[in-house]
Amino acid sequence: MRKLTYFIACSIDGFIGDPKGDATTMMSFVDEELLAFLKEEYPETISAEGRTALGLGDLENRRFDTVIQGRGSYQLALDTDVTSPYGHMREFVASRSLTESPDPNVELISENLVGRVRELKAEQGELGIWLCGGSQLAGELIDEIDELVIKTYPLVYGSGMPMFGSGFAADAFTLEGVRTFGNGVLMRTYSRKR
Ligand SMILES: NC(=O)c1ccc[n+]([C@@H]2O[C@H](COP(=O)([O-])OP(=O)(O)OC[C@H]3O[C@@H](n4cnc5c(N)ncnc54)[C@H](OP(=O)(O)O)[C@@H]3O)[C@@H](O)[C@H]2O)c1
Repeated sequence: MRKLTYFIACSIDGFIGDPKGDATTMMSFVDEELLAFLKEEYPETISAEGRTALGLGDLENRRFDTVIQGRGSYQLALDTDVTSPYGHMREFVASRSLTESPDPNVELISENLVGRVRELKAEQGELGIWLCGGSQLAGELIDEIDELVIKTYPLVYGSGMPMFGSGFAADAFTLEGVRTFGNGVLMRTYSRKR
């Protein structure tokens, strides 16, 4: 089985963005040290736009070859006329409102979301699936998540968009690793206890 990993940036108090989901206040923490780590360990999570802006060129996928995001998250790319933000992977976008995919590399999932994700997990392959977000999609897929990689930025939001748009449950995860960065960013990896 391939793993579904929710790799996400959040505030100390667990929000992935402001009440509308805007996460730009986290961006100032992506400094040289953190970027070097991401390039080395999670290069595929750097978008095509980010690669161009940083002059990174081609980077080989290390952990994921597939990304799934909700239309709310994908909309941020569409709003800047980018239709394939992660063209170096297979891209899936969950949406009931989009009737036609805006890009040949993007496959829409309009029904049976959990079933489609289970099919993707059942495929053969060395690399896993990145659940990019946002909150609503993660809430719907919470039971399918095998791994959490949480980048915590040293910010308190007080309120905002939660990591999961789902009801209450006390799902147990095992802490697999912690990495700290000089600027106060903390990265924790957890695997689900099954
Ligand atoms: N901090 C981070 O690392 C991070 C990462 C990613 C995103 N974000 C933030 O998260 C925000 C977006 O989150 P969000 O919760 O508003 O939206 P979202 O989860 O990205 O997308 C929600 C949309 O996905 C579609 N969808 C959800 N469930 C579905 C299902 N079962 N079947 C088919 N389609 C389904 C629907 O699209 P339709 O309306 O088209 O039907 C729904 O409106 C953005 O503002 C972004 O900044 C933050």
